[in-house]
Amino acid sequence: MLIFDSGAGGLSFLKIINKRMPNIKYIYILDNEAFPYGNKTELFLIERSIKIINIIKKKYPITIVVIACNTVSTVALSTLRKKFNFPIIGIFPRIKAAEKITKNKIIGLIATKRTINSSYTQNIIYKKSSCNIIKVIGTNKLALIAEKKIRGLKFSKISLANIFKPWNQVQKKPDTIILGCTHFLLLKKEIKKILCTPYIYFIDSTEIPLLQIKKYFAKFNKNQIIQKNIFFYSEYNKELRELLFFLKQYDFYTIQHIIIN
Ligand code: DGL
Repeated sequence: MLIFDSGAGGLSFLKIINKRMPNIKYIYILDNEAFPYGNKTELFLIERSIKIINIIKKKYPITIVVIACNTVSTVALSTLRKKFNFPIIGIFPRIKAAEKITKNKIIGLIATKRTINSSYTQNIIYKKSSCNIIKVIGTNKLALIAEKKIRGLKFSKISLANIFKPWNQVQKKPDTIILGCTHFLLLKKEIKKILCTPYIYFIDSTEIPLLQIKKYFAKFNKNQIIQKNIFFYSEYNKELRELLFFLKQYDFYTIQHIIIN
């Protein structure tokens, strides 16, 4: 299984996959050279994903790809599925799930600007049930805060508060929040604190891709072609060095550089 993201978000999703399906072996691509994906064009993200899959496909027999990133999933998944003949699983903001849970009928959706502006997201917002209100925040700054948190670095509480200002300034805050970016899974505690409401339900949208992965491995009962977990990064820099300690909790056999161009 190949799994990729621009950074720490995909790793937090991988942790959940590992917990549920500990026997799956994987190649993780940390495309940190292109971080943040949220400020890239759709074309860049489509081409980048094709490059990542093709590079790995040449070296390893990939049988399934997991895009551990809402930004790439919303803009590129349909193109990628047409291009490659193995299953490609994505992660998408789940408004339907939030609609079932919200009590005050106010749903918050927070994601990167690219995800919010994608036609996929615009379409699901448009189709929402009429009794619900969706309050949207499109931000490319929250992923940066998540990157700091995963490294154990300090981050500005003021920047965090500024991101959530649109929800904090109104009297009725969302009681159900869709975390439309895998990076945000790392910040549930901080978001709860900044919104000063004890009753918030988070939808992290991992449930459907988890089921799809499980179903795939159950159906095909694939023998794991990859015997050890491999970690590739696309840029060696200070931030990557800071992440190495955190990576110890994953069972990566090798950590290597990969050129994506
Ligand atoms: N983790 C990604 C997502 O789910 C991308 C964040 C970024 O690189 O901007 O959208």
